[in-house]
Amino acid sequence: MTLLFCSAHDDAGAWKAELKPRLPDLEVRVWPDVGDPADITYALVWKPPAGMLAGLPNLKVVLSLGAGVEPLLLDPTLPDVPLVRMVSPGLTDDMAGWVVMQVLRWQRKLDAFAEQQRAGVWKQLVHRPAAEVRVGILGLGVLGEAAARALKQLAFDVAGWSRTAKPLDGVETVHGEDGLVALAARSDLLVCLLPLTDATRGILDRKLFATLPPGAVVINAARGGHLVEADLLAALDSGHLAGASLDVFAEEPLPPGHPFWSHPKIHVTPHVAGITHPSQTADHVAESIRRHRAGRPLTNVVDRTRGY
Ligand code: NAP
Ligand code: GLV
Repeated sequence: MTLLFCSAHDDAGAWKAELKPRLPDLEVRVWPDVGDPADITYALVWKPPAGMLAGLPNLKVVLSLGAGVEPLLLDPTLPDVPLVRMVSPGLTDDMAGWVVMQVLRWQRKLDAFAEQQRAGVWKQLVHRPAAEVRVGILGLGVLGEAAARALKQLAFDVAGWSRTAKPLDGVETVHGEDGLVALAARSDLLVCLLPLTDATRGILDRKLFATLPPGAVVINAARGGHLVEADLLAALDSGHLAGASLDVFAEEPLPPGHPFWSHPKIHVTPHVAGITHPSQTADHVAESIRRHRAGRPLTNVVDRTRGY
């Protein structure tokens, strides 16, 4: 059985080194050196060229290097085999840490202090206590739940929104259209951790921003397609929103000259909120392959009808 690795973004050598001790008998080939396509049983991929997977006649499982799989689902030739998305403690911890970092940045006035330091100013600016800061999380899946728990641990007043009802200890949870409006209305900081689907594309728009309290902050670590960029700029420039922290963009890399680069109220990170570290995620890949070989059910299989 042979695995084909295909990603322009991830380190093939590191992946081979991590998979070897876990699955010593698994041959790993790195695209474009496919050899005989009929040998390939597993594909471990991030944004493979469209049609590439369809050329593997004995492919049994597609393993995504990303938690979000919408780039794969956009390929109409994607073979009808199980598609397993990335779920791993390393990626989850990364994401929870990035969200906490951004929430603290705004709550603890980090940017104001950085400016004061540059000007040599010693002035104590008083922040609102965490318990009085309301954070709303869109998406209560693996990553949204971890972010909610991490923020709760720091005493923030956390609520979350999902497609179906999801009770979470200590977190007010809502679902459905009405739930979204209620969540937005009580969110000083709104964090997006939704998958990108037909139902969620463009969800961070003028209508949603208008329901946020004045002075709210938008934090997007999901996908650029969730955000209507012009609506964000308008809401920031009107003063209704106080700021935004963005890790993901409609076009990546964010093009030179894009207004987000220089906007004083926008913080940009280059799609690094949750990284698929080979050392932290190879267990998940190896376990999926072991399960498949043993005829046991796979976990974290994408529901293609739902789109995530
Ligand atoms: P997940 O476990 O599949 O969770 C998705 C959550 O979104 C679930 O709670 C789901 O509700 C909810 N949801 C889906 N469609 C919805 C809708 N129409 N209305 C309301 N809620 C909806 O996904 P995850 O692992 O947490 O990952 C979330 C996303 O993060 C990924 O899809 C990816 O795009 C992004 N991501 C970004 C980075 C980065 O570095 N920036 C890294 C990893 C992932 P139910 O619980 O009811 O199903
Ligand atoms: C990264 O964006 C992922 O989906 O894992």
